Amino acid sequence: MQTFAEFVRYATMAPSGHNTQPWKFSITGDRIRIFPDFTRALPVVDPDNRELYISLGCALENLVIAAKHAGYDPEVKYFPAGEPDKCLSVTLKQSDVTGAGDLFQAISRRHTNRREYNKQHIPAADLKKIESVPTEEGVTLLVLTESGAIEQIIDLVREGNRIQMGDGAFMDEITSWIRFSDSEEELHLDGLTSRAMGKSPAPGWLGRMFMRVFVGAKSQSKTDEKNIRSSSALMVIISEKNDKKSWIDVGRSFERIALTLTTLNVENAHLNQPCEVPELKNQLQQQLALGSAHPQLLLRIGYAEPLPRSPRRPYQQVLI
Ligand SMILES: Cc1cc2nc3c(=O)[nH]c(=O)nc-3n(C[C@H](O)[C@H](O)[C@H](O)COP(=O)(O)O)c2cc1C
Repeated sequence: MQTFAEFVRYATMAPSGHNTQPWKFSITGDRIRIFPDFTRALPVVDPDNRELYISLGCALENLVIAAKHAGYDPEVKYFPAGEPDKCLSVTLKQSDVTGAGDLFQAISRRHTNRREYNKQHIPAADLKKIESVPTEEGVTLLVLTESGAIEQIIDLVREGNRIQMGDGAFMDEITSWIRFSDSEEELHLDGLTSRAMGKSPAPGWLGRMFMRVFVGAKSQSKTDEKNIRSSSALMVIISEKNDKKSWIDVGRSFERIALTLTTLNVENAHLNQPCEVPELKNQLQQQLALGSAHPQLLLRIGYAEPLPRSPRRPYQQVLI
């Protein structure tokens, strides 16, 4: 039987914005609690902590899947009253059934793949499986394959790069989370590594100089455009409301979708600029006729060789 600490280990394999791993866990009796770690927030790109809570939702979903797989029946509560700190609480009772087998196997295989994809179409039966992943209430998945809609999104991504990468604070924040060399990766065990971004490691000083001198909105947009055109489809994850509970529900739904993609050998990578910049979010809402619903995550999906995995801090470091 797996121990509760192992469920925490599976939770830490979840994706998170810039691989900040903005979580802490506690285990007491039959309960595991997940706390936000605001020391790992991204105040420039994520001023409301929206993506931080989406990341917590991803970790929660992995924990629930691992517990179900080990024969527990998890009872999840968001921010229960009477708790000393705001947390997500999972109470684990033994059950007769084990579930979530396929998704459990995918937890340690899932990763973000920022490579150029190979334009291959996703078979209709697989697309149907992706579109029918059960999402939390108020969360929906939209899969876009129509070229007109994709062209409009390319324009929004380009504009997102222009706005974000023209902001020195944004560039400073993202650069502070890039682990350029293997030694920086080993030291921090978090962040965006050169290898996971499809690049060769370089000494930190050289990487930072390269970021300052050569990396800008134009080159990023060229790469993003090429990558989008190489993809089989785009995906938008949408929520009816835009509050903490919805963000966690978006994270849980996204993780289920990402794990399902993994079972189908379909890769995914984020292009969240249009969800992060308020004026672009309004345009995306209009383009997709979402009414008052909120586009929360934008991704491309398709086929490519895997990339090296991103590091994680050992679960012992995130247990309090
Ligand atoms: C809420 C959220 C936002 C993210 N935003 C981006 C993004 O804008 N660009 C990107 O390349 N990756 C993005 N990612 C992917 C993370 O960088 C990735 O999950 C993290 O580096 C860990 O790598 P892994 O997914 O391969 O385990 C995001 C992930 C989450 C959960």
